[in-house]
Amino acid sequence: MAHHVTLIPGDGIGTEITAATLHVLEATGVDFDWDRVEVGEVSLAAGGEVLPEAVFDSIRRTGVALKGPVGTPIGSGHRSVNVTIRRKLDLYACLRPVKNIPGIETPFDGVDLAIVRENTEGLYSGIEHMVTEDVAESLKIITRKGSTRIARFAFEHAQKRGIGKVTAVHKANIMKISDGLFLECVRKVREEFPGVDYEEMIVDNCAMQLVRWPRQFGVLVMNNLYGDILSDLTAGLVGGLGVSPGANIGADQAVFEPIHGTAPDIAGKGWANPTAMLLSAALLLEHLGEDDAASRLRSSLERVLGAREVRTRDLGGEASTMEFAEAVAKAIKQ
Ligand code: NAI
Repeated sequence: MAHHVTLIPGDGIGTEITAATLHVLEATGVDFDWDRVEVGEVSLAAGGEVLPEAVFDSIRRTGVALKGPVGTPIGSGHRSVNVTIRRKLDLYACLRPVKNIPGIETPFDGVDLAIVRENTEGLYSGIEHMVTEDVAESLKIITRKGSTRIARFAFEHAQKRGIGKVTAVHKANIMKISDGLFLECVRKVREEFPGVDYEEMIVDNCAMQLVRWPRQFGVLVMNNLYGDILSDLTAGLVGGLGVSPGANIGADQAVFEPIHGTAPDIAGKGWANPTAMLLSAALLLEHLGEDDAASRLRSSLERVLGAREVRTRDLGGEASTMEFAEAVAKAIKQ
């Protein structure tokens, strides 16, 4: 039976890497029934809204989506489509696995960690206002419910994947009440998982530790802003934004998407690396119970990258987005 999945190509390079990903998914032989919905600039250009209600109707119906990046205007303009989808569907856990990929040279081998970022509160609650003409205030919301469920997600992920350690990342030395509550909740959840080691680390030290000794980490759990920043940092450890996948997971729905944005500097040129979206699609396949297809997709991708013949410009090659996807699709069928 075909898997009914919402498809949100997004804008910028989103449409290019989505076409590439669909081509590769077709080669896996898994049957999909895509419910395609447009958002962002693409939807606006077609006379629609930035974030039509149809997107939520579709994801509520299918329970799962594959999504490309969507641009957000800086400073003014509409609210982030990405943040709104995550908050409205209560996709509270952002999972970003970070692992070396054969053929991509980086300063470190053996990096295998996961960032678990709280996705719905913290400084991204969107509660901002001017107090006076010269003073702006932005509220950081940390709740017992939000912190407890993200902690449980992190420990369950560690347990399920056989990862030995969870690190809670915080700044409770300065934000004693908000990050203090976060830590209190993680410590409580930790008692349910005696088989998983636990440590706490202040976020600035953690940034340094990650670029000096990344192999010490397993699962890192943290609130929204720290997770946003550190997951780009950890993407850099294994080859950059073009190769780093992600998933936003809630109790009832999940949205799989690369961690990078719309890359306006290369959009429309056919240069984008679809690897991050392909690895996000592999996470989606696992979520759908298609473990065999997920592992064939990953190993074919690794074979193509490992052969160092066909690669996109961000990795020093000359292949176009579709040429790279074609090579991966061919490897899957071999
Ligand atoms: P970005 O991730 O779009 O680009 C940063 C740099 O990485 C650029 O040099 C870009 O060319 C490169 N890059 C990113 N993805 C690549 C790929 N697949 N292949 C090759 N190179 C790639 O970040 P930026 O410029 O900060 O954001 C651009 C827009 O994207 C903004 O409007 C931002 O709000 C949005 N954005 C959307 C996200 C989402 O939809 N989940 C996530 C992050 C940003």
